[in-house]
Amino acid sequence: MKIFLRFVLALVVLIAVAVTWLSWGGSIAPVPRSASKVAEATLRDPALIARGHYLATIGDCAACHTEQGGAPYAGGRALATPFGNITAPNITPDKATGLGDWSFEDFWQALHSGRGRHGQYLYPVFTYTSYTKVHRDDALAIFAYLQSLPAVSRPSNPPALDFPYSVRGSLKAWRALYFKEGQYQTDASRSATWNRGAYLVQGLGHCNECHIARDALGGARDDISLSGGQMPEQNWFAPDLSTQAHGGLEGWTDQDIVDLLKTGKSTRGVAFGPMAEVVVRSTQHMSDEDLGAIAQYLRSLPARPVPPVQDVSFDTKALADHGKDVYKQYCSDCHGSDGKGKSDIYPGLDGNASVIEPSGANATRVVLLGGFAPATQANPRPYSMPPFAQQLSDADVAAVVTYIRTAWSNQASLVRERDVSGLRHTPSD
Ligand code: HEC
Ligand code: HEC
Ligand code: HEC
Repeated sequence: MKIFLRFVLALVVLIAVAVTWLSWGGSIAPVPRSASKVAEATLRDPALIARGHYLATIGDCAACHTEQGGAPYAGGRALATPFGNITAPNITPDKATGLGDWSFEDFWQALHSGRGRHGQYLYPVFTYTSYTKVHRDDALAIFAYLQSLPAVSRPSNPPALDFPYSVRGSLKAWRALYFKEGQYQTDASRSATWNRGAYLVQGLGHCNECHIARDALGGARDDISLSGGQMPEQNWFAPDLSTQAHGGLEGWTDQDIVDLLKTGKSTRGVAFGPMAEVVVRSTQHMSDEDLGAIAQYLRSLPARPVPPVQDVSFDTKALADHGKDVYKQYCSDCHGSDGKGKSDIYPGLDGNASVIEPSGANATRVVLLGGFAPATQANPRPYSMPPFAQQLSDADVAAVVTYIRTAWSNQASLVRERDVSGLRHTPSD
């Protein structure tokens, strides 16, 4: 879960701005609180708690707030940044170490405004940049669910960041540039299903936290939502989720999207890497209705202009010719010499978004590290692909990946030998 840490890039640059800003007296103002208090009885309503459980699963809160092998929500993974670790705190209802003394207003302030109980800015490793879109009644349900969990006493580790990143006030400048607070607004020109899909994708599902390109400051602009982006800390590429050709969801049907999110595989491709984790913990548990809504919303996203397809130069051709031999020897038994794959077992590589996404990183990583589709309720024993890191040199991998990116109907850029060596390991491991 080190993927949401691109914001730290921004801190480097913005720290200077922030320090100036603070010296103008930019201290953190107390947040006005609503006087209304949620009744205890409301929070104990079993129907509300059940809904909150479902919504917390869509939000994948446990992913970060649970330590490997630890009690659910009792505080979690140390999220590595180049400046130190930030550990997701205990959010069980323990009074001393968790949210036991929190009011719903405290919780709302965290989820909606990215502020802690005392008004302090929270680091956007906690993806409130998306959760701010969550409606208040859904936030209440999540709060009721969290408050219904067994209280676990486990002190949260304070962020272990180096100075000056340890100064929470430095987030003021970052927030001014990249954080737009506000609940999801219904688009009246669209259907209820479409709006439900948009609400889940942009809000709780926080799909955009991975599937977007960041600018040099680690921030993301609204107008390029879901346009696909690098995840440099993990060396994966999260593809464009619009209907774009060449690496987007062009040609995917609603059913393909539902299948991928529910089972981890579809006729168009298989989930692996960070997306496999998302499927296992979160999307496979979504109702068919919600998955259908997400599919409808994603398929309504207009294709973006396709980047110019690169000419097949002599270099590409020589590389691809060698790649064709490697493919024949190591790959075609499973994926077929026509790149169509085999029935339900081996995914087709022709027109596959994971093969032709712009960076080339995903196909390269799958060849090196192997492909592990997630085991889900609907597909408990998925087929996997063996790793080739030992058998194939960087030159062979570059060649075979360039071949599958340019063979059949695929037209994507070449992958070079030097690109491959950098992808053998995951930087944040
Ligand atoms: C990608 C990892 C990640 C996910 C997903 C995530 N959180 Fe967090 N959360 C964090 C981190 C890290 C912090 C601490 C931030 C800080 O110290 O500034 C945090 C802080 C919080 C806080 C403030 C707690 C405190 O003691 O100040 C609350 C409340 C919270 N998260 C609730 C949630 C809920 C509810 C969800 C799901 C809807 C969720 N989180 C999903 C990582 C995550
Ligand atoms: C033993 C059968 C087998 C062999 C040999 C094999 N693969 Fe795979 N491959 C699979 C399976 C099964 C998957 C799906 C699992 C996954 O992606 O997690 C897969 C997935 C992939 C993917 C990701 C596609 C997607 O939709 O997610 C790519 C790219 C790929 N293989 C390329 C290759 C290349 C290139 C070679 C040769 C160097 C190769 N494979 C050899 C079985 C194989
Ligand atoms: C933690 C980061 C992360 C989050 C959050 C995330 N994704 Fe992904 N997603 C990825 C990566 C990386 C890939 C590329 C690997 C793959 O194809 O499985 C991917 C691939 C996909 C694919 C294409 C799969 C293929 O075979 O080409 C779809 C569709 C998708 N994601 C939908 C979603 C939706 C919808 C959400 C929100 C509910 C979401 N993702 C949230 C990282 C993420």
